[in-house]
Amino acid sequence: MQIRLETSAVEKLSVDALAVIAFEREEAKEGTTPAEAAEPQENADPGIAGQAGWMAELRASGEFTGRLYDLATLHRPQGTAAKRLVVIGGGKREKLSTAETRRIAGALVRGLKSKGVRTMALLLEGLDAAEHAEAVIEGALLGAWEADKYKSDPKKNEKQVEEFVLLVKSGEAQAIKALVERGRTIAEAQNLTRDLVNEPPNKLLPETLAQAAREMAVEAGLECDVLDENAMKALGMGALLGVAQGSSNPAFLIAIKYRPSIPVGQDHLALVGKGVTFDTGGVSIKPADGMEKMKYDMAGAAAVIGAMQAIAQLKPAIPVTGYIPTVENMLNGNAQRPGDIVTSLAGKTIEVLNTDAEGRLILADAITYARRSQATHIVDAATLTGAIGIALGHHNIGAFTNDPQFFDRFLAASRLAGEKAWQMPMDEEYKDYLKSAFADLPNIGGRHGGSITAAWFLREFADPTPWVHLDIAATAWLDDAKPWLSKGPSGVAVRTFVQLALDWPRN
Ligand code: BES
Ligand code: MN
Ligand code: ZN
Repeated sequence: MQIRLETSAVEKLSVDALAVIAFEREEAKEGTTPAEAAEPQENADPGIAGQAGWMAELRASGEFTGRLYDLATLHRPQGTAAKRLVVIGGGKREKLSTAETRRIAGALVRGLKSKGVRTMALLLEGLDAAEHAEAVIEGALLGAWEADKYKSDPKKNEKQVEEFVLLVKSGEAQAIKALVERGRTIAEAQNLTRDLVNEPPNKLLPETLAQAAREMAVEAGLECDVLDENAMKALGMGALLGVAQGSSNPAFLIAIKYRPSIPVGQDHLALVGKGVTFDTGGVSIKPADGMEKMKYDMAGAAAVIGAMQAIAQLKPAIPVTGYIPTVENMLNGNAQRPGDIVTSLAGKTIEVLNTDAEGRLILADAITYARRSQATHIVDAATLTGAIGIALGHHNIGAFTNDPQFFDRFLAASRLAGEKAWQMPMDEEYKDYLKSAFADLPNIGGRHGGSITAAWFLREFADPTPWVHLDIAATAWLDDAKPWLSKGPSGVAVRTFVQLALDWPRN
């Protein structure tokens, strides 16, 4: 989909659809007759190209109330070159933030592409265009993405919006141009993440993921180092290699490096992403039902690759390195057994009580490796536990930390990025759930607080480096389409990663 910024008069824009956002009305006052309600009201309706009468009628009929993402279409509107005029519900005006405009733009693209619209324009009437432009471009590009790469329907391209025009006042265009570019950069990075997660597990092996990271790095001008199993053996990454030994597809540890031309301060941010290209559970095998979804167990890794691409283009002031441990959790004759004791890179011994708790094993070594490579702050993203979905449902990332100050900065970034995160507890008491009779620690706790014990396991390797852990198991994949996003990979965490790096304080 092409993105274009346009300043021409709204009447002259010949697109298939010209869209505006309209909000829910104030409560109808008591005693208002339908006729009075139909009167055009000040502020209530945008006066797009003189269609206020249509808007008032639409509202009075009850067909359009301004509810979020509701659409109404007027064909052959008067006084404009556009073929259709479209209003989309913006909900309550006072509640509108960029998190909503991002979704509204996505819902517009998704709602219109199925109706044969190929070119469309959005007019940000009555809104601060500078505030919303970046989010709108992101939303439009994210809404256009489909998980249809492996569908052979030759007509699928006919259902795409080819051009999305953002219509702004000529005085604003210069300032908004940069915001549009930034929105495009971030959305394209997030869609790269979604492309990677969408790949089936026979096509995307650890080696393929390493290749994708290398290709992105070459393209973006970043350095990329890949450790193979021999290198990891020499270093002593027993936790990661124990998971890898059950697969005939070798594991890797990928490091993607961004270095600013003039670094500010001493900080060095590490982004660590779980890259299990398929999770059978190993000998502690998962049930067959739904196992196919475990191709998305590399969504954290894909988010790191996407974020590093955007970071290369947007150039924050601090160095950022992306670390990706990538393995396939399979079960051949050499597979890890429950009861195995492995020695991690940090030297701690781990009793593997459940081979399905593999993510924390590979992350433990990757986090230690990041710390030894001079990371001063670590954020990891991992599809780590089913339990996080039980705790929070699908609407918030589960976020854990060992450093409240760093967490505040993370949370500010997540809010700005429109990716909700909810802080989970990390009281010392929970640590006691991790007791092994035979090694330093087990890889699972008991039945309760599963996402918290998983986080505590990671923390044993992250401390004392300031660290935030994101459990994205319930947010990285949409089981059903949303009005603004297709079913499948969501690309969650990319925008927060990028925002966190860009907003790094100058110390
Ligand atoms: N990759 C899974 C977690 C997961 C579950 C991600 C559902 C997405 C959807 C992880 O490796 C895993 O298997 N975790 C176990 C941990 C348990 C064995 C302590 C789980 O959540 O059941
Ligand atoms: Mn598992
Ligand atoms: Zn897993």
